[in-house]
Amino acid sequence: MKSHSSRLDRFVSAQTDIKRRDVRLALAKKRIIVDGEVATDISQRIGQFSCVSLDGVVLNISHPLYLMMNKPKGVVSATKDEKNKTVLDVLADQIDSEPQSIFQLNKAGKKYLSSEELEGLHIVGRLDFNSSGLLLLTNDGRWSRRVSLPERCIEKRYRVVVDKPLTQAYIDAFLQGMYFEYENITTRPVKLNILSDHVAEVDLVEGRYHQIKRMFGRFQNTVLELHRQSVGNLALESTLLPGQSRFLTLNEVQSL
Ligand code: URA
Repeated sequence: MKSHSSRLDRFVSAQTDIKRRDVRLALAKKRIIVDGEVATDISQRIGQFSCVSLDGVVLNISHPLYLMMNKPKGVVSATKDEKNKTVLDVLADQIDSEPQSIFQLNKAGKKYLSSEELEGLHIVGRLDFNSSGLLLLTNDGRWSRRVSLPERCIEKRYRVVVDKPLTQAYIDAFLQGMYFEYENITTRPVKLNILSDHVAEVDLVEGRYHQIKRMFGRFQNTVLELHRQSVGNLALESTLLPGQSRFLTLNEVQSL
C-alpha cells in the first residue's frame, strides 16, 4: 500500500504543466483551491482524498471506498496473480455482469465503481485460497491500518468444518494459546465454540499465517472448510451470495 500524501507544489506540477518553482506564483494569484480554501503554502500536505483545483478545474478526485465481499473458495486474496483468479477479478466480473449492484450514493447521485477505482483497492485481512466469507476491501490505507492494529483486538469469527471429532481438549488448548516456533510467538487466547462433532466457531483476535489450520493441525485434524462470518460487529448477511460485494455504510465503516 503506497503513501498517498504529497506536497502541494509537487502535486500541482505533477498534474499540470506548471513547473514546481512556479506554483508559488499560482498561489499568490489565488489560482489554487484545496478542500474549498484558497491555498497559501506550497508545502501544504495533500492527502489521498483532498480535492485540489486550479482555475476552477479539479485536478484529482478520489473518494474513499469501502466494500465487503463474500469471497468464494478458489480465488486468491490478492490484487494481481499470474495463475489464479483474484478477488479483484471477482469484483470486476460483478461490475461487468450487474454494474447497478456495485454503486454508492454520493451528493451527485449514483456513482459506479470505475476501473481506476477498482485497481486502487487493497485487501484488509486476507483469506486463504480455499477459505470463504467476509473480506474487506478499501482504498483508504488509514482505515485498513486502523482495522488491522493488533492492539485493537478486533474479533474475527470463523465457521470451521474439520475432519475428526472435536473435544474439550481443543477448547482448552485454543484458550491457552499455542507456541508457533517459526514466528516465535504464542497465539492469543482463541475462543472455540463446538457446534457439533465436526463443526465449530472460532474467534480470533489476530491473524497469523494459516492460523486456524495450524492450530487444528496440532491435533492432526484437517480443516475441510473455513468461512469468515464476521469482523468486529460487521457480519456477512445471507443475501450477499458468494462472489458478490457491496459498499459498506458510513455506520459500518465507523464501527470498525
Ligand atoms: N486461518 C486460516 O488458516 N486460514 C484463513 O483463511 C483464515 C484464518
